[in-house]
Amino acid sequence: MHYDDNLTADRPTFVTHLECSVTGEHYPADKIHNLSRAGKPLLVRYDLAGVKKVLGKDALAGRPADLWRYRELLPVRRKEDIVSLGEAVTPLLPLPKLAAKLGAAELLAKDEGRLPTGSFKARGLVMAVSMAKALGITHMAMPTNGNAGAALAAYASHCGIRTTIFCPEDTPEVNVSEIGLQGAAVYRVNGLIDDCGKIVAEGKAKVGWFDTSTLKEPYRIEGKKTMGLELAEQLGWTVPDVIFYPTGGGTGLIGMWKAFAELETIGFIDAKRPRMVAVQASGCAPMVRAFEAGVEHAVRWENAHTIAAGIRVPQAVGDFLILRAVRESGGFAIAVPDDAIAAALEECAREEGFLMCPEGAATYAAYKQSLADGRIKKTDCAVLFNCATGLKYPLPPIRRTLDRHKPIDFAAL
Ligand SMILES: Cc1ncc(COP(=O)(O)O)c(C=O)c1O
Repeated sequence: MHYDDNLTADRPTFVTHLECSVTGEHYPADKIHNLSRAGKPLLVRYDLAGVKKVLGKDALAGRPADLWRYRELLPVRRKEDIVSLGEAVTPLLPLPKLAAKLGAAELLAKDEGRLPTGSFKARGLVMAVSMAKALGITHMAMPTNGNAGAALAAYASHCGIRTTIFCPEDTPEVNVSEIGLQGAAVYRVNGLIDDCGKIVAEGKAKVGWFDTSTLKEPYRIEGKKTMGLELAEQLGWTVPDVIFYPTGGGTGLIGMWKAFAELETIGFIDAKRPRMVAVQASGCAPMVRAFEAGVEHAVRWENAHTIAAGIRVPQAVGDFLILRAVRESGGFAIAVPDDAIAAALEECAREEGFLMCPEGAATYAAYKQSLADGRIKKTDCAVLFNCATGLKYPLPPIRRTLDRHKPIDFAAL
């Protein structure tokens, strides 16, 4: 095995077509697409019987540990189109001290902060940009809460595609800087992410930008799907009892749900599914409200606010797909307040030495709340998704100082 086999070997590909997630209408593969004619997300479909014939668990086990090990289940056909910055398999970290405190059997965190640009957005954007390269797209635009824009800028610059990116005006400085430094034209907009999305749509209509918004582009979801593929492989081709996922646009949750279905079809896992829990912040919880109301679509959340910027998404184009996956899985949607998110972040960092991002910390807060209200059991194996490194976020200052010119009371330190 050579370290870059997944990027350099020719491997068969199995995409047959794209399909409207509502009407089921088919669209040809290998063409530029955004939403379907019904204005809904397109899903990539594969000849899974063909995949089953060529892909075995043992062959997979011998491949390098990166996202491209699953190429037969991904849309990029030619190795020359792969735009990689090193998408390593992310670790599944046990959190034994937190589990013990809560009397729980098994608590794991999938630490997505190890990916290029420090977040799981790399998974979606490496796929979107590789497909853009394959399809000859030259200018991509995107609305972002920060992490997605950073990943788009990085991959697009790596392969020479131009990018124009819009983020809400209070997006953390580090995100705006990384987007700009990685070669994009980035603008702060006096509005929220859906307001930024409207500017992208207008630019698409007026000057032909490619709209890379969440779920308006069909391949980001295929990249995010690898979270589910990886997780099942790491657990010996089984799934956990419950997954807590910080849900904004929901690509990851929808992608993982798709991954499990595909894995079952190719015979890698059985029919068991994890209960999918969509975690939102109390200040922006459109999915929770829709889940509790028993409706299929979520109404826009007005005056959205939370310290977990990545999940501050007032309205999601894939709302019905998120709600469908949550319901089919027997899971639920749950909102946690900002003070619980901040406390969860500190607790996890202090006790486990694991600095989550606020969105990841929201999943731990939700896990605790769900154990307390009996929605999950202590015997459940639970996986939290920490979608970005905590180091990308403003951190509370530590104000302890020491005067080296005065006698030091070492016993008190
Ligand atoms: C750190 C972090 N967590 C979670 C999310 C939400 O992800 P999704 O759009 O897949 O729901 C985002 C999106 O920006 C994010 O940056």
